[in-house]
Amino acid sequence: MGLFTRRDALALGLAAAASPAFADPAPASFPQPSLDALARAKGLRFGSAIGTGLKGGRTASFGDPQYRAVMTAECGLLVCENEMKWYALRPDATSFQFGPADRLVAFAEANHMAVRGHNLLWQRPDYFPKWFASFDLGARPASTLERLLVSHIHAVCGYYGDRVISWDVVNETIDHDTGKMRDTVFTQYLGPEVIDIAFAAAREAAPHAQLVYNDYMGWEAGNERHRDGVLQLLSDLKTRKAPVDALGVQSHIGADNPDKFDGFGKSQPTQWRAFLDGVTGLGFDLAITEFDVNDLGLPTDVAARDKGVADYARAYLDLMLSYPQLKDVLVWGVVDKYSWLQDLKPRPDGTPKRPTPYDGDYQPKAFRTAIAEAFANAPARTPRSAAG
Ligand code: XIL
Repeated sequence: MGLFTRRDALALGLAAAASPAFADPAPASFPQPSLDALARAKGLRFGSAIGTGLKGGRTASFGDPQYRAVMTAECGLLVCENEMKWYALRPDATSFQFGPADRLVAFAEANHMAVRGHNLLWQRPDYFPKWFASFDLGARPASTLERLLVSHIHAVCGYYGDRVISWDVVNETIDHDTGKMRDTVFTQYLGPEVIDIAFAAAREAAPHAQLVYNDYMGWEAGNERHRDGVLQLLSDLKTRKAPVDALGVQSHIGADNPDKFDGFGKSQPTQWRAFLDGVTGLGFDLAITEFDVNDLGLPTDVAARDKGVADYARAYLDLMLSYPQLKDVLVWGVVDKYSWLQDLKPRPDGTPKRPTPYDGDYQPKAFRTAIAEAFANAPARTPRSAAG
């Protein structure tokens, strides 16, 4: 099929209305220089996730003027927390709902933030749209599924065009426990090459964007199989010449398995370097796409806890920033009270988690200082060649 373009979208009345109403002035109260300014001085960029509350509750950070202000002050990159996911963009198999994502993209553009797209294929059935469970695959399920996937990617990438500078094309296809490809209806009918199909479709429709494989393999013990599986996948994709530019390292650190969030993790810097050496040795760039530090297992005392988070984050960032292939660092939320981690396994002491750079009163925490110092100490990298 042909590409679904912005012009098609305009014809359907789906266009993003760039609203100057979102250009909130940046209050002077945030620390200077900003995290993005510190990042840019080294050839890096800094950004964060933001959400419209699409699924209700906590992720409605966009509705809070102070959140918009801290984003505007600190960030040069924005990623929609949920609004570009398949289930969010597609209320049913044939229509699109671009409105919530459009509002965030318009906010980014009004405030000089580049946009990362997250994500085109989240290879986990629990995050497929509800209607997909009863979707009729017809007599030729493989071609039906391929058409569905390719047309979705063409439509979404075509709609946003060069306004999205980097796409998480495939998210989390490696099983944390086994290191094998997760089994879904896509892999059942299309095999592991479903990943190649997704990347090829993204390259066709987003020729200038960075194309990323994104996953949560981490540096803590317990991630060995996950790391091996991701490295194998990247190696296979390279052999098959799939158009993958970078590995997105989600960086939900602190726990040995970000899906289970058990305790405060034990880092394995040597093994982690070996993994990153493997990835970069294959020629891939790196991006930190969803950074936060889960404080489960750290003390109740706020100062001690914030120091624990900051020290752990600093060690992680210093290691990551030693790779010149790393050019973008995004946190998964700037302010504690909007963090998705508040909705997952609670701390035993019942206190809210403190996993992001700012507390609920918009005061910068030790974590913010750790990021600032890590950027200030990072080796400068050469300007990026592609994808802005
Ligand atoms: C999370 C969001 O933060 C939640 O609001 C939502 O309910 C579930 O997804 N890895 C990813 C992100 O790739 O998309 C996830 O975001 C966090 C883990």
